[in-house]
This record gives sequence, structure tokens and C-alpha cells, in this order.
Amino acid sequence: MLKQEPEDGQATLADPHFRADVLTGLAATPRAIPARWFYDRRGSELFERITDLPEYYPTRTETALLERIGPELGGLAAPDAAVVEFGSGSSTKTPILLRAVQPAAYVPIDISGDFLRQSARALSADFPGLPVYPVEADFLRPVPLPREVADLPKLGFFPGSTIGNMQAFHAVDLLRAMRDWLGEGARLLIGMDRIKPPEILIPAYDDAQGTTAAFNMNLLERINRELGGDIPLDAFRHRAVWNADAARIEMHLEARRAVNFAIGDRMFHIPQGETIHTENSHKYGPNGARMLLRAGGWTPIAEWTDPQDWFALMLCEAQPLRRAP
Ligand code: AVJ
Repeated sequence: MLKQEPEDGQATLADPHFRADVLTGLAATPRAIPARWFYDRRGSELFERITDLPEYYPTRTETALLERIGPELGGLAAPDAAVVEFGSGSSTKTPILLRAVQPAAYVPIDISGDFLRQSARALSADFPGLPVYPVEADFLRPVPLPREVADLPKLGFFPGSTIGNMQAFHAVDLLRAMRDWLGEGARLLIGMDRIKPPEILIPAYDDAQGTTAAFNMNLLERINRELGGDIPLDAFRHRAVWNADAARIEMHLEARRAVNFAIGDRMFHIPQGETIHTENSHKYGPNGARMLLRAGGWTPIAEWTDPQDWFALMLCEAQPLRRAP
């Protein structure tokens, strides 16, 4: 990537995919920018803070669940497997999994490169004998797995209910792509957040400290920083809504007033009260979760939930596709 030094001396690092998604998304009806662009360095740090919030139950629930089922998992993963983690972030759940399954290699994949390398270094220090092969990639595009793990059985790890960011249509595409990358016979351990009352869901995405608001607003700051935007931040507010029909939490940035701004040489106008849709977080009941996995080519073989049934970890397998009878 080319680092440009514009007149004002501010270095901009403009990812052409980011630019295209933002310009297209802001001109679309309804306005929407893909959630993956939250995760620049600052966004990744803000997300880590979200995972510690009292209202944000998913991380702590899934982590406790993973601790609890560790001994069982050890028996369910192939010996000498390569663990391939999608969207590893700071990899806080990873040590629990690695201790449980004792793999032969670990491949963390993340879109945020420096965050990825920093976490990979920390992990290597804790698991001195374990080969770690970090891959900086957007796993929504084809992921090149390191050749060192080509011949090992694979255990995919996709925690955090990240799959919930996608509509079922795209989630199925991703699950099928993972099946192709990991190969027939591979297993996948995936975390999926359950449908629950909005009284619990809304505060998890609109916390009292405003950390989620800052996470959402950072997208506008990132646009200003990296794409030469002049979006007035005080013209927007964070919104989290439960869309019951689609079984998802939506995050929006709502215009407090009519606002005009430019991004490079493109001008935009947003009327008061209209929003930029920035994230979907789909929730699944047990049947929906299983159906989604099957549609994506993965056969569920075991599942676990916490005592309140708030979060599920599902183990599934890429079984050979047999002809229908
Ligand atoms: C990382 C997609 C699982 O949907 O709960 C947290 C992201 N957004 N708070 C989620 C998120 C706002 C998170 N995922």
C-alpha cells in the first residue's frame, strides 16, 4: 500500500475497498456501510473495551462456556489438528481452546494487521512449542492458508458470534467458503448468540458508559482520517435497535440535524433523523442455528449453551456431500 503525504502533511492510508464501500454505501438507499470497517486499530481497541462492559454479556458468557467444555472438546478434535481462527482480534478465548485441544499449529486470521501480529507474539510467548502462522486477510475474500498446515486436519474456530454480522444469505456463502478452505472432514467450532429479550439485548449495544457509541462513531472518525472527510461528528448520534422480524440488533448513526459534508471531492447530504446503518448482529434460536450451518455445508455434531441459554457453541463437521436418496 502507498503512503501518500498530502499538502497538510497528514499521512493518509486509503484502502480502495474502504473508500468504495463508504462512497457507495452513503449514496445508497438505505445508507449502509459494512461493519468490518469498524476495525481499524482504534476500533479494535474500542471493541476490546466493549467485551469488558457489564452490559455486554456475549464475551464473558462464551468464555465461561469454552472453559467449561474444554475437557470434552479435547476428545472431539482430531489429534495434531491445525486450529484456524477467523477474525482472531486479540485472541483472548484462544488460549482456552489451545489448552483444551493441544493442536499441532495455530493460524490466526484477522483484517487488522498490527493488532494480529501483536496478539500472535503474545500467544507464542505463552505456547512456546506451538507454531503460529498469522494471516492478515479479510476472510470475506479467499484466504490463503499457509502451506505448513496444508496436510494437517483442520479445526476452524469462529467465536464471538461474528457470523451474526452477516445476513443468512451471506453467512451461508461464508460457511461454504470456510468448508472449501478447511476441506472435507474438517471441524468447525462456532459461537452463535441466542435470541433473547430486548431488555437484555439493547443495553448490550447501547451501554451506559458510551463505549459502543464511541465504537460506532469511530467509523466516521476513520472516514475523516483516512478518506479525507469533513463529517461533523456532533451531527450524529449512536442508535441501537432490535429488529424483531429479522431477529437482529441494528446499529445506526442518526443525523441529529440536516447535515452536509464532503469525502474527497464527493458531497453528501443527510436529512435530520435519517441514518447510516453500520451493523447487523443476528441472533439465532437452536433450530435456526442448525439450519444455517447445514445450509453452509456443516453438519452439527455437538452443541453447548450456558445455564441461561444466552449463547451457544456449536461443533460441526464438513461431512462428504452424499447424493440424495
Ligand atoms: C463482533 C460482531 C460479534 O455483534 O456483538 C459489539 C460487534 N458491535 N458491540 C456483536 C459489536 C457492537 C459484535 N461482533
